[in-house]
Amino acid sequence: MRNRRAVLKSALGLGLAVRGLRVLHAQEGDPRKARPREGDRFVFAFGPREGETIRVDDVPMAGEQVICYAVDPASGAVRDGSRLNQVLLLRFDPRSLAPGTSEVAADGVVAYSGICPHTGCDVEDWSEEAEYLVCSCHESEFDPRDAAEVISGPAPRRLPSLPLRSEDGVLVAAGGFSAAIRFRKEF
Ligand code: FES
Repeated sequence: MRNRRAVLKSALGLGLAVRGLRVLHAQEGDPRKARPREGDRFVFAFGPREGETIRVDDVPMAGEQVICYAVDPASGAVRDGSRLNQVLLLRFDPRSLAPGTSEVAADGVVAYSGICPHTGCDVEDWSEEAEYLVCSCHESEFDPRDAAEVISGPAPRRLPSLPLRSEDGVLVAAGGFSAAIRFRKEF
């Protein structure tokens, strides 16, 4: 009986692993669904400038986050096929960034995942007073000057960051997200 249970358990585990690989493969095959990666540029996700390439100067100094998507340089596809690809751009005086954060910033611009690691809401609010990113679902706050560390609220970990560089003033991804985009499903 125990053996049968063990076999069923490992078959289930194998099935889940295969399914996970299939999802990953589908993501890799479709540039719109693939996560941002080295060499990508960024475009505004919404608003009057939707689809326009974002330059360093387009990101307001010490202001609210710009919500954007990465663009695959090979195909020109905007990576908006998954909401988990949302990226937040913010700009600060480079001297005000924490050491680990300044290493991945470009001219003071930092980039983070726009998906809250608590239960997956969009991180779309901004505290003007504290200059923190805010998830309005359950009020988690993240410090964008310090690797999006959790300041308060139920989020279990910081937002994954995305390293940047600037090419003639245009923002370019210098790599992928620092961690997988994960959150707990709400019941
Ligand atoms: S989903 Fe962001 S704080 Fe709960």
